[in-house]
Amino acid sequence: MEQQKRYGHFDDQHREYVITDPQTPWPWINYLGNEDFFSLISNTAGGYSFYKDAKFRRITRYRYNNVPMDNGGRYFYIKDGDTVWNPGWKPCKTPLDFYECRHGMSYTRITGRKDGVEASVLFFVPLKKWCEVQKLTLKNESSAVKKLKLFSFEEWCLWNAATDMENFQRNFSTGEVEIEGSTIYHKTEYRERRNHYAFYHVNAPIQGYDTDRETFVGLYNEFANPDAVMEGKPRNSHAHGWSPIASHYIEVELKPGESKDFVFLLGYIENEQDEKFEAPQVINKKKAHALISELDTTEKVDKAFAELNALWDNLLNIYKVRTGNDKLDRMVNIWNQYQCMVTFNFSRSASFFESGVGRGMGFRDSNQDLVGFVHQIPPRARQRIIDIASTQFPDGGCYHQYQPLTKRGNNDIGGGFNDDPCWLIFGTVAYIKETGDFSILDEMVPFDNQPGSEVTLFEHLKISMDHVIKNLGPHMLPLIGRADWNDCLNLNCFSWDPNESFQTTENVSEGTKAESLMIAGLFVVTGKDYVALCKKTGKDDEAARMQKAVDAMIDAVKKHGWDGEWYLRAYDFYGRKIGSNENDEAKIFIESQGWCTMAEIGAEDGLVAKSLDSCKKYLECEHGMVLNNPAFSKYIYEYGEISSYPEGYKENAGIFCHNNPWVIIGECLAGRGNDAWSHYAKILPSYVEEKYQTLHKVEPYVNCQMVAGKDAFKPGEGKNSWLTGTAAWMWYTVSEFILGIKPDYDGIRIDPCLPETATDYTVQRKFRDADYEITIHPNGAQKGVKKVVLDGSPIEGTVIPYSAGKHVVEVTM
Ligand code: BGC
Ligand code: NOJ
Repeated sequence: MEQQKRYGHFDDQHREYVITDPQTPWPWINYLGNEDFFSLISNTAGGYSFYKDAKFRRITRYRYNNVPMDNGGRYFYIKDGDTVWNPGWKPCKTPLDFYECRHGMSYTRITGRKDGVEASVLFFVPLKKWCEVQKLTLKNESSAVKKLKLFSFEEWCLWNAATDMENFQRNFSTGEVEIEGSTIYHKTEYRERRNHYAFYHVNAPIQGYDTDRETFVGLYNEFANPDAVMEGKPRNSHAHGWSPIASHYIEVELKPGESKDFVFLLGYIENEQDEKFEAPQVINKKKAHALISELDTTEKVDKAFAELNALWDNLLNIYKVRTGNDKLDRMVNIWNQYQCMVTFNFSRSASFFESGVGRGMGFRDSNQDLVGFVHQIPPRARQRIIDIASTQFPDGGCYHQYQPLTKRGNNDIGGGFNDDPCWLIFGTVAYIKETGDFSILDEMVPFDNQPGSEVTLFEHLKISMDHVIKNLGPHMLPLIGRADWNDCLNLNCFSWDPNESFQTTENVSEGTKAESLMIAGLFVVTGKDYVALCKKTGKDDEAARMQKAVDAMIDAVKKHGWDGEWYLRAYDFYGRKIGSNENDEAKIFIESQGWCTMAEIGAEDGLVAKSLDSCKKYLECEHGMVLNNPAFSKYIYEYGEISSYPEGYKENAGIFCHNNPWVIIGECLAGRGNDAWSHYAKILPSYVEEKYQTLHKVEPYVNCQMVAGKDAFKPGEGKNSWLTGTAAWMWYTVSEFILGIKPDYDGIRIDPCLPETATDYTVQRKFRDADYEITIHPNGAQKGVKKVVLDGSPIEGTVIPYSAGKHVVEVTM
C-alpha cells in the first residue's frame, strides 16, 4: 500500500472536518441551507446557490466538468501591493502562508493568510432566510499599515440551469442588472414572466463595482487573473446582455493588529405580480432592503449563526451514542446524521457529480432518505410523504422522479420502475413508528397531482402493494418493469442505439418474463410492515389478504428464487436465470441477498445463512461488498446499462455502498454481529478516512455512492459522494440494527447486534415526548437481550413502552 497523504482531520468538538491543504484529491464540498435556499461550497469556495430547485431556479453559475475542475464560485480577491490572492487559494492559486477550510453543520469557514494579512470567510444560510451570508474578516497581523484592494465576485446564472448552458442565441441578449449603493441586483427576465430577482450586497460603502463579466475579467483571461483585479481598478461596468456578474470593489486600510468585518449577502426575492416594479423598468426592492436590514451588522450575523448552531445542537441531541470508539461515535452522532439531512433535502439532484439539471426528487430515493431524517424534523418528513404520494398514478405505479419546485412528476423519465410503489410503505411506516401519528393515513392525497382525484394515504399504500401483486410473472415473482432498485438492470429496454437513455428507451412489457428477486424481497419486508400496520389500525381483513400475498411470495422465492448457495437475482425477458451459478458472469448479485435475507426467506432451511456466507465469499473485498461477481466483461443487450460499465465500476461490480447495509441488516437479523460489524466498518467513512485519503479521493466525512470494486483498475477509489441512499441506510443500520434502538408503534424496541468485542455503551434517545437514556451491557454477546430494566423495574419483553418524560433503561445481553 502506497503511503497515504493526509489532507485534513476531524474536529469532533466543533463538529467539523478540517481541511489543511487546498489541493485535495477532488473538491471536498459542503452544503449550506436547510429548507428553501441552498448552496454547494467546495473547500476552495467553488460551487453555486439555488432556490428550492437546482434546475429551475439556479441563482449563480457553475461550470461542471471544466478545466480546471471546480470552476465558478464566490471568490474574494485581495490585492496587497502586487500580490493578488484568495483566502480559499483558488482561483488565483497564489501560494498561501496558511490555509484552512472547516466544513461544519450547514456552514463552512475558509481562512487564508498571506504576507501578514488573514482573511477568514464564514459562509452559511441563516434559518428561514433566502440568502447566503459571507462574513469576511480581514485582519492585519503585520506591523505595518496595510492598504488592500478587495474585489468580491459572483456570476449570475440566468435562472434555468439547463437552458443557461445551451440557449446562447437568446441568453446573450437577455441579461439585466440594476445597481443601487452597495447592492447589485440581477433581474434577467424579470420584465416578463419572472417575479423573482437576486442581489449581491455588502454592508459597507464601495468604491466601484462591475456587473459585466467580459469587462471585469477580460475576454482572454480567466478567473485567476481578471483584468480589473490585476490592475486594481474596477470598471464600473453595467451589464446589458452577455454574462452578468456582481463584483464589489472596496479599499480597505488596516492598522497593525486591526481587523474589519464585511458582511456580503447573496439574496433571493419574490414579489407579488402587482408589486413587481417601483417605477417603469425598476424592480421593487422593498423586500431586498428588509432582508438586508436583518443581516447588515456583525452582531446580527453572529446571532443568525448562533441560531443555526442551536438548530444543529437540537437535531443532534435526538440520538446520541457514547461507545468510547471515536470513529463510530463521530459518524453516528455527527456526520451520518448530517448527510441524512442533506440527502433528504437534495435527493439526487445537485452535487459535484449530479449537475442539478437531470434529476429531481426520486420516488424511491426520497422514501429511503426520509428514513434517515424522520427523527430529526418529523413534520418535514410527513410533508414529503404526501408530496411523493401525490405523484403516484391511480394504478399504483409512480413517477420515478418529481421536481421540487413544482412538485410535479417528471415526464422525461415517466414511470415503470416496479419497485417504486413499495418504498412508499417503507417511508410511511418509519414516519408513524417515529411519531405515533397515525392520522397521516387519513390525509387526502391526489393521483398525479390531479385535483379531485384524492383518496386517503392509506389507499395509496394499498394500491402500492396491489401494484406488485397485479404484476407478477410466470414464476409468480414481481415483474421488473423498466428496472427495480438497480436502475441499470434494464431487462425490458433493449437498446442498440447509443443516442437513447437506457432508462427511458421503450419498455417492452408485452410478453416479458423478466422478474425481480429484489422486488420479491422488498415486497415481503414491506408487506410484513403493511400487515402489521393494518392490524394496528383494525383492518384485519386487509391484513389477512396481504398476509396471503406475502406468504405466496415467500413460497415463490423458495421455489424459483434459490440457486443453491444464494438467491437468484432475476429472470430475463425470455425467462432465463440471472445471478445464477449457471451464468458465465455475474453469477451472484448483492440486492437479492440483501432483501431476501432481510425478509428472512427460508431462514428455517438455512437459506439466509448460506446467502450471507456467499456474500462474504464472492462479494466482499477490502473496501466493501461489490454489487455482482464476476463483473460483466461485455455488453449484454438483454440486460441493459449494467453491462455497459467497465468492470468494477458503478452497477457493474462496483461497491455500491447503498446496498451493503442491506446485507448488514440481514447479518444482524441472523444474529451474526461480528460479520455485521466487519462489513459496516469497511464502508464507514471515519475508518476509510484514517486509511485511504488519497486513494479514496472523495470527501472522507460522508459516504459516497460507489467505491471502485475488486475488478476495477483502482479498487477503493470513491466517486459520486454525498447524494446517495447510503446515508439513510447506514443510519438505519447502525442506529436500529447494530446499536439496536428501534422505534416501534408502542415504544422503543431494544435489539442490538454487536461484535463480541463490544463494550458497554449508552444511547440518549429523544422519542416523541420522552427522553431515554439507554445503557447496554453486551457481556460479549453478539445478539439476544436477556433483561431490560426501566427506571429500576424489570419489564417483560424488549419493547420499552412509550411514556412521556425522562427514563433510564439498563439492558443486559
Ligand atoms: C446510473 C445509476 C442511476 C441512473 C439514473 C445510471 O447511469 O448508473 O446509478 O440511478 O443512471 O438515471
Ligand atoms: C442511483 C439512484 O438514485 C437510485 O435510485 C438507484 O437505486 C441506484 N442508483 C442504483 O441504480
